[in-house]
Amino acid sequence: MPSLFDPIKLCNLEIKNRVIMSPMCQYQASNKKGMVENWHLIHYVSRAMGGTGLILTEMTDVEARGRITEGCLGIYNDAQVDGFKLIIEECHRYGSKIGMQISHAGRKSTIAGGDIVAPSAIPFSKESPVPRVLTKAEIEGIVEQFGRGAERAIEAGFDTIELHGAHGYLIHQFMSPASNKREDEYGNRTKFALDVIRTVKQAMPSGMPLIFRVSAVEYLEGGYTFEEMLSMSHLFKEAGVDVFDVSTGGDSSYRPEVYPAYQARYAAAYRKELEVPIISVGKLENPYVAEAVIRNEQADMVCIGKGMLRNPYWAKEAAATLGVSLELPGVYNMAY
Ligand SMILES: Cc1cc2nc3c(=O)[nH]c(=O)nc-3n(C[C@H](O)[C@H](O)[C@H](O)COP(=O)(O)O)c2cc1C
Repeated sequence: MPSLFDPIKLCNLEIKNRVIMSPMCQYQASNKKGMVENWHLIHYVSRAMGGTGLILTEMTDVEARGRITEGCLGIYNDAQVDGFKLIIEECHRYGSKIGMQISHAGRKSTIAGGDIVAPSAIPFSKESPVPRVLTKAEIEGIVEQFGRGAERAIEAGFDTIELHGAHGYLIHQFMSPASNKREDEYGNRTKFALDVIRTVKQAMPSGMPLIFRVSAVEYLEGGYTFEEMLSMSHLFKEAGVDVFDVSTGGDSSYRPEVYPAYQARYAAAYRKELEVPIISVGKLENPYVAEAVIRNEQADMVCIGKGMLRNPYWAKEAAATLGVSLELPGVYNMAY
């Protein structure tokens, strides 16, 4: 039975432990061009120095209008590629693997004066603008942009790609009956996700794992059920998803009650049903809780979000708490 600090192989990607830095928007691209700055270098590399097995970048968008804010990172032009190279090289130096989370905010973009688009003209909340309905040709263009984004991420040197299919962003907007009322072929709520998965997978070298983040359940009335999400996920797996990262919600302003491992039951159900490696996320920052989720075979890996914002050395300190050795670079081990 594996434990939190045992290595894992996702397709051909070997990862030294089962700790993942959860994707977290930084809003620090003050250049407003979606380009990496020193902040990002320091932010990601310090978690690599802290012993994290796999780092996932913040949601990085495939179109300028697909950013939540102008401070978000983008992967929609070639000039954005180089900035990631040093981050990747340095994360590798300290033994971490790193993946890009690729996304499009759709109607959750808040860029003032922006072209806010969605499957249907339904705003995210009462305060949000009514989005413009995407034409079929525009949707096909966005699918292509996902593919180009993946190609650029691979050119930069990323080890894996996570598609953001959760939290109410564009892929999720197409999957939800509450936000997709289309009457054309994209009214089939799996079509957009499947097109994106196939296009991105084609851009990836064989043996590189494709991770897909899902919202297992929606908290909005009129949303999909968990059973429906599971059956959609079978199609996503057939189309090329190798690993599911199981979150919930984000479809409305409703916040579920948060307690340790509050989303792990969905990961466990995914693991049984989909029979692929599964990532759990959501208040797993107590090392004993994270260890229990792995040992009880509810998930194969854990994402740590806020716990890792507080502490870049979360992995090392979790290992120390659990009595496991984890080497840090240089003299950092002397601190333990
Ligand atoms: C500041 C911040 C930014 C976030 N940005 C993203 C994001 O870009 N993509 C994503 O999938 N989730 C994002 N999340 C959600 C986290 O990845 C994670 O799922 C959530 O915080 C729950 O995990 P935790 O309890 O360990 O923090 C963000 C969370 C925080 C706190």
